[in-house]
Amino acid sequence: MELIDGKKVSQDIKAEISAEVQRMVTNGERRPHLAAVLVGHDGGSETYVASKVKACEECGFRSTLIRFEDDVTQERLLETVDELNRDPEVDGFIVQLPLPRHISEQAVIEAIDYRKDVDGFHPVNVGRMSIGLPCFVSATPAGIVELLRRYNVPTRGKKCVVVGRSNIVGKPVATLMMQKGYPGDATVTVCHSATENLAAVTREADILIAALGRPLTITADMVKEGATVIDVGTTRVPDSTRKSGFRLRGDVDFDNVAPKCSFITPVPGGVGPMTIVSLMRNTLLAATHAIY
Ligand code: GUN
Repeated sequence: MELIDGKKVSQDIKAEISAEVQRMVTNGERRPHLAAVLVGHDGGSETYVASKVKACEECGFRSTLIRFEDDVTQERLLETVDELNRDPEVDGFIVQLPLPRHISEQAVIEAIDYRKDVDGFHPVNVGRMSIGLPCFVSATPAGIVELLRRYNVPTRGKKCVVVGRSNIVGKPVATLMMQKGYPGDATVTVCHSATENLAAVTREADILIAALGRPLTITADMVKEGATVIDVGTTRVPDSTRKSGFRLRGDVDFDNVAPKCSFITPVPGGVGPMTIVSLMRNTLLAATHAIY
């Protein structure tokens, strides 16, 4: 069993990005600039956005954080999106989700210029990804395939089972795994809440991607000997021994599953750190106009 060290890979990639930014700056080019819009004070969102700002510093990017209170109107938020779309100094930006209930997330996502949509949530980017065109791929799926690539996990002709059909992980990672080339060319099955006999399906998987958001759902009896297991779960469970008062739990029963695997990602330190680094990569792509 080999542990997939997402923390180490993410540090390597940040160093690669930082070197590229150094080269750009030496050539007289502007530093890449990521803006983030944060509405309200949700604990998870605060943490994610703070990590994104810190990652920008590590990569040598400029970052701007724009904050609103929970009662901001949709109209005001859309004005900000429009300003960011037109600001030539901003290469890419994100609006952190979830948004308060009186605001339509879809309306906000669709208002973002797809050329600055470094989250890859705009329908143009989602559509382009599904037909294999250059686009911003959303951060978690991009991070997963990058881990498979860096660990040379064989994917061609392999059976890949994705558990979970969310728009930001399950669906896009299934699309990437079935795409032509490496890491792709897999035979992909997507399972969800209506799947009958889940364990019988997951037991067939050479690559099992668990993205359902329910702790410890994937148990040892559901995993084939020699499988590669990617755990996307990051559920917060109370833990009074931690300063934060919680710890992260994956979707996989790691202790019992790991001995059966060729490769497995831990939680934390697996997919999580890769997600933020993928956003940094997309910002670099935006700054170099690689997506147009
Ligand atoms: N909320 C949870 N994950 C994400 C993400 O990747 N991007 C944004 N904008 N919001 C999120």
